[in-house]
Amino acid sequence: MKRYFFMVVMAAFAWAFTACGSKEQGAKQLVLYYSQTGATQTVAQELQKALGADMEAIELVNPYSGTYAETIERVGKERQNGELPALKPLKADLSKYEVIYLGYPIWYGTYAMPIASLVNEHDFEGKKIVTFCTFGSGGLEPAIEDLKKALPKAEIAELGFGIRNARVAATAKELNRFLVENNYVEGTVEAIPGYSEMRPVTEGEQQIFDAACGDYQFPLGTPVLVGKRGTSDGVDYIYEVESNGAKSTIYVTVGNGEGAKPEFTRVVR
Ligand SMILES: Cc1cc2nc3c(=O)[nH]c(=O)nc-3n(C[C@H](O)[C@H](O)[C@H](O)COP(=O)(O)O)c2cc1C
Repeated sequence: MKRYFFMVVMAAFAWAFTACGSKEQGAKQLVLYYSQTGATQTVAQELQKALGADMEAIELVNPYSGTYAETIERVGKERQNGELPALKPLKADLSKYEVIYLGYPIWYGTYAMPIASLVNEHDFEGKKIVTFCTFGSGGLEPAIEDLKKALPKAEIAELGFGIRNARVAATAKELNRFLVENNYVEGTVEAIPGYSEMRPVTEGEQQIFDAACGDYQFPLGTPVLVGKRGTSDGVDYIYEVESNGAKSTIYVTVGNGEGAKPEFTRVVR
């Protein structure tokens, strides 16, 4: 009887501990994002699902509601004049959160203007910030470097999550890998081998590069060297590319499926 009583008490303790732990964790993490056309919002929603965190969209007093060309023009002028778009006040009380997952589209090679406004208003002192972004071709790394400079009192995670808007449907799987590999959630993912040594591009690899990058709105350059690796999903390629004397790295993936179209996943300039 005594033993039974002891077990019931221990079980009650264990339940209380788990319940408090998960509740507290949920309250400490905020997914905070800006999205103009919905791609970054898709990633934010997947993140919220995976983390069980609170979530808020950053809103503007005068939203960027124009077409792509109109937005490019407005942002170009604002950048030239050093103007920042006014934000609506945040609803979330940032002091409640320890970890903030901060999401944005890449604009002009860095975080979008509403994030420039946000970091101008809040210094995020003592917060851990994990970034996520969407982009046409790339910009993940420079945006993190810019954020580090803008928020010296925050702890910005070295690695962020990024995905092309054209591949946003692949978010759930790729985001899960990012979260597991960085210990943000528990789980296991397939171990992926490193790329083979870089060597000159063959004709077949040139065709794969062209199929992946040829229809992108801007020319991405000429591949010079390539490495590859196999995964259970297909084959990944890493191309060293030259464009007007500048070098970049372009990642391409080709799925296993019959006639799968090669896709580039990001450009690192
Ligand atoms: C003003 C503007 C500038 C952009 N600049 C870049 C850029 O420098 N690099 C890039 O890869 N994509 C760029 N893009 C594409 C966006 O990053 C991409 O469409 C993003 O997924 C949009 O996210 P959203 O749907 O959450 O707004 C730009 C888009 C706009 C509107």
